[in-house]
Amino acid sequence: MSNTAQHFVVIGNPIAHSKSPAIHHVFAAQTEQSICYARQYCPDHPESFIAVVEAFFNGGGIGANVTVPFKQVAYDLCQNTGALSDHARVAGAVNTLSKKDGKLYGDNTDGQGLVNDMQHQGWTLAGKTVAIIGAGGAARGAILPLIQAGIKSLTLANRTVHKAKDLVTALSAQSDEVADISIATCALDALTGHFDVIINATSIGLSGERLPLSDDLSCDHAYDMMYGRTLPFLEHFAEQGAATSDGYGMLIGQAALSFESWTGRTVDVTAARAELNKAT
Ligand code: ATR
Repeated sequence: MSNTAQHFVVIGNPIAHSKSPAIHHVFAAQTEQSICYARQYCPDHPESFIAVVEAFFNGGGIGANVTVPFKQVAYDLCQNTGALSDHARVAGAVNTLSKKDGKLYGDNTDGQGLVNDMQHQGWTLAGKTVAIIGAGGAARGAILPLIQAGIKSLTLANRTVHKAKDLVTALSAQSDEVADISIATCALDALTGHFDVIINATSIGLSGERLPLSDDLSCDHAYDMMYGRTLPFLEHFAEQGAATSDGYGMLIGQAALSFESWTGRTVDVTAARAELNKAT
């Protein structure tokens, strides 16, 4: 293990309860890296965020994760003064910052973290019919990685249907990979039929509220991007006999991709998850 620790940080507001330091320290122990990964609170103003990012990298920091409410500000900063990965560009949001050739580089690992988590659980995505509920930032970040995983079709359902339509139009204009598959849109209560996979990407999860799902909607696999308590969305499909998963593995998956891009080391996410479960 190297004696000089590499410094990382997660920037957000609120940030005190972020699990990222614990997750990254497990990855570091597993790959024998010496790291220091801290939580950084930041006032909710773009100029404060920019000052925090500059101070961190000027001070020798290697990589920063960005969480609510700064993912779009981080995107703007990279677009204006640095560079963006394809996933960040299409997601319109950045959750992973590093320096490349002296310039800020923004990536988004959330959607690929979701895809990787499903695949680690043995869920096949290639050739499958997928529906996403929600048309906000979480849904947007998942679309390109799901298409790249080879899904057969995608349906985007949202309470406010025009937001789903606007999102598909915007993403199709930005990415040929998105434009190449036809994405259906509908109102949430008009989402019916059977899908191989249904993903809840709304922010309803932790409120305890139930989405108004049609009785004619079913799936083999249901995934909720939220985690941390009983999720009515998953209970609904589990009662039908579907396999279900909350988003805890997505959290670990997106962190693993950030860690791998910063350190060049490969993480065993299954072992890391087992280690994290022991600690809680
Ligand atoms: P995020 O960045 O987490 O995706 P967001 O951009 O605010 O957050 O988007 C929240 C998503 O959850 C939207 O799709 C929203 O639907 P609307 O576009 O109709 O607002 C959805 N959502 C939030 N609360 C909901 C509820 N009670 N019922 C149905 N959808 C809900």
